[in-house]
Amino acid sequence: MAVGIFDSGLGGLTVLNAVSRRLPDVPLVYFGDNAHAPYGVRDADDIYNLTTKAVTRMWDEGVDLVIIACNTASAAALRRMQESFLPKNKRCLGVFVPLIEALTEREWGDNSPPREVRVKHVALFATPATVSSRAFQRELAFRAIGVDVEAQACGGVVDAIEDGDMILAEALVRSHVDALKRKMPQPQAAILGCTHYPLMESTFQDALGPEVEVYSQANLVAESLADYLGRHPDMLGSGTESKFLTSGNPAKVSARATQFLRREIKFVSA
Ligand code: DGL
Repeated sequence: MAVGIFDSGLGGLTVLNAVSRRLPDVPLVYFGDNAHAPYGVRDADDIYNLTTKAVTRMWDEGVDLVIIACNTASAAALRRMQESFLPKNKRCLGVFVPLIEALTEREWGDNSPPREVRVKHVALFATPATVSSRAFQRELAFRAIGVDVEAQACGGVVDAIEDGDMILAEALVRSHVDALKRKMPQPQAAILGCTHYPLMESTFQDALGPEVEVYSQANLVAESLADYLGRHPDMLGSGTESKFLTSGNPAKVSARATQFLRREIKFVSA
C-alpha cells in the first residue's frame, strides 16, 4: 500500500515528513534526484526527461501513485506526463493545486468557476523555471479573479540548501524578499513555491514581517493526499516498505537529510 514522493533533491522531505505524520500507516518511497539538482535552472525538456526517468524507477518499488513534491517538475513536466507518459493504472499528482485551493479557500478538488477571494496581493517565491513557466498564475486563474501575483525567482537558494550552506541560504532568502518588496511593498500572503523553502520558513517570515501570511505546502499536500486516497483507495500500490532512494551519493544525502529532519534517514542508491 505504498505511495511515492519525488523531488529533485532534499526539498520533498518537507512533504514526506508531513505525509508520514498525517498517514502514519502508509509506507512511503522517496526518490531524491540529488545528482541532477537543482532542476530550477534546467529547461522544460530536461526536467521532463529526468522526472519521467525517476518516476519510472519508482514504479519498481510497488507504487502506483507518485506525489511530484517538486514545484519545478510540477510546473514544467507534470501536464506533459499526464498527457503522454503515464500508463493507465498509474498517477502523478503535483503540489501546486492543494496550495492554490487553500489560498482560494476551496474544498479539496472543488472545480467550480473562478471567484473573488479574500487575498488580493500575493508574493510567489519559486525557482527560476517555476516562475518562467507561469504555471502558478495559470492554476490560480482557474480558481480566483482579481488576484495580483508578483513572482520572485530565488536563484541560488536550492543549491545552498542542497550543499548544507544555511548561512548562504539565509542571506539569499533575505535578498530575494527585499527584491520582491521593491516590486510589491505590501503583500498580504506569500507562497513558498518550492518544497526546499519550508526549510527556510522562519527566515522568509522574519524578512516579510509578521503581517504577511506565509503559505507552505507540506501540510496542505498531506491533507489533500489523505482526501484523495479516501476517494481512490485503489491507488495505494503493492509496496510494503518505506524506502529512500537517491541518484546522488547516499552517505552524503543521508547526512543532510538526517540534519534537516532531525531523525535518522538512510538513503540507498537508486
Ligand atoms: N524542491 C524543488 C521545487 O519544489 C526544487 C527545485 C530545484 O531542484 O531547483 O521546485
